[in-house]
Amino acid sequence: MNLIFLGPPGTGKGTQAERISAELKIAHVSTGEMFRQLANEGNPLGVEARDNYWGKGNLVPDDITIGLVKERLKKDDCGKGFILDGFPRTIPQAEALEKIVKINYVIDIESSDAIIIKRLTSRRQCENCRKIYGIDVPPKLEGICDVCHGKLYQRDDDRESVIRERIRVYNLQTKPLIEFYKARGLLRIVNGESPIGQIKADIMKIAKK
Ligand code: AP5
Repeated sequence: MNLIFLGPPGTGKGTQAERISAELKIAHVSTGEMFRQLANEGNPLGVEARDNYWGKGNLVPDDITIGLVKERLKKDDCGKGFILDGFPRTIPQAEALEKIVKINYVIDIESSDAIIIKRLTSRRQCENCRKIYGIDVPPKLEGICDVCHGKLYQRDDDRESVIRERIRVYNLQTKPLIEFYKARGLLRIVNGESPIGQIKADIMKIAKK
């Protein structure tokens, strides 16, 4: 099963990908996480991507992103299937992807700007195991990860001014993918404003068809 999770920043792609990939026993491939990890490691490409692109709310250039994803999909854990969380984000990325793999469904998780801003300004993430917390998923101890006891931090791009830029970029560059995948009969829409468990059930229903 090869799935794409599409939708604006903060709509819950990562939250759902974490849960659905565990249930379906398939890989979770997040390009945003890949870029953050490279920057944390001090990798020059990762640092450049943070300073010039994602830290400002802009997309990382297609050639860099497509190259990273192509390499990632060759890894063994993608053999049984995968969820692409945050890729593709432009038409050239989608065209490159359809040349290398077959996609079963594109799940478009939709939420309003007001909900997105509320969620992202209060999101925290574990700097160690990467688990995501938020208003509806608070940690048991403030600032500490329930799973690994790592420290929780706020992402550089979760400041309100950067969030607004990410939403603007999404509408301009990523939203056209909805029509792209509708035309291919792959698009399925779920309501991202439902409770987390309900969205997961909605996606599982689609994946099991
Ligand atoms: P990326 O990390 O992919 O960021 P994003 O798409 O902006 O999405 P987010 O991770 O912010 O949100 P999400 O939808 O995963 O929501 P989450 O589950 O965390 O990319 C970061 C940057 O990298 C991009 O801006 C770009 O620069 C670059 N990049 C990445 N991919 C690229 C590509 N393909 N091409 C070029 N550049 C690329 O949830 C958010 C919060 O809401 C959490 O706190 C969560 O607990 C809470 N929440 C989730 N669901 C619910 C719910 N149903 N009810 C209540 N709260 C909820």
